[in-house]
Amino acid sequence: NTEYETILVSRDGRVGVITLNRPKALNALNEQTMNDVVAAATELDRDPDIGAIILTGSEKAFAAGADIKEMATKSAAEMYRVDFFSPWDAFARLRTPKIAAVSGYALGGGCELAMMCDLIIAADTAKFGQPEINLGVIPGMGGTQRLIRAIGKSKAMDMILTARQMDAEEAERSGLVARVVPADQLLDTANDVARTIAGLSKPVAQHAVEAVNAAYETTLQQGVQYERRVFHGLFSTADQKEGMTAFSEKRKANFTHE
Ligand code: CAA
Repeated sequence: NTEYETILVSRDGRVGVITLNRPKALNALNEQTMNDVVAAATELDRDPDIGAIILTGSEKAFAAGADIKEMATKSAAEMYRVDFFSPWDAFARLRTPKIAAVSGYALGGGCELAMMCDLIIAADTAKFGQPEINLGVIPGMGGTQRLIRAIGKSKAMDMILTARQMDAEEAERSGLVARVVPADQLLDTANDVARTIAGLSKPVAQHAVEAVNAAYETTLQQGVQYERRVFHGLFSTADQKEGMTAFSEKRKANFTHE
């Protein structure tokens, strides 16, 4: 039960919840926050008793971006030397399903962090944007790559070149978010989704995450081949035997995550 400076971590059954907690800075992502989130999420990912992770912020802001005040005076040489933002790659690669529950601002690195999760559930108050161009930079936590895959080139260019914010309704219509719910139902909905996922087989869900993400990295043929190999391999798991036996016996499967 590590204490973190910039986040709160809680567990509810098989669901782990990470809450960004720098209210005075609208959850701006400084280096400490990055290190806290990566450490907490990695610990939850490795825990066999956790089957899904929710990442959320406050009502007003999921996260208003990377911490501008912390970055402002850095040199290119320093950015390069420490490979600024690279620790986030470890978060993006975690295989336990990660749900971003977004209320209020998800701007810059906040939008990019939400996109590193496996799916986004948005409150009707959510606002997504990549305003980096207003600061004389471009997105730096994957925005130019992940946004185009989520919403296509024209809308991604619109957001990245003009800094226009997208509301929750447009974000859902564009495929950036999976569901939009009234703000006061955000956490309940995210919890329901997380509990559903966490009630299934963890290793199978992890393989599903890896297979879907392979679509980002490979040709269609390689991706289909990868999917098929994973599908075949899952027949070595106890959970596949249990899932299919339970269907035949007309009962609920009791997965052991093995
Ligand atoms: N970095 C550091 N501090 C931030 C911040 C950020 N990204 N966003 C907000 N804050 C701070 C503000 O400076 C302010 O602090 P003070 O009270 O000490 O002045 C506090 O949070 C509250 O913010 P505001 O007073 O501005 O609140 P508002 O309701 O008037 O406006 C907002 C809200 C429109 C989100 C506005 O805060 C804003 O535009 N924030 C910056 C958004 C942004 O540009 N994000 C991109 C960052 S760069 C990036 O993310 C790079 C990347 O690709 C990873």
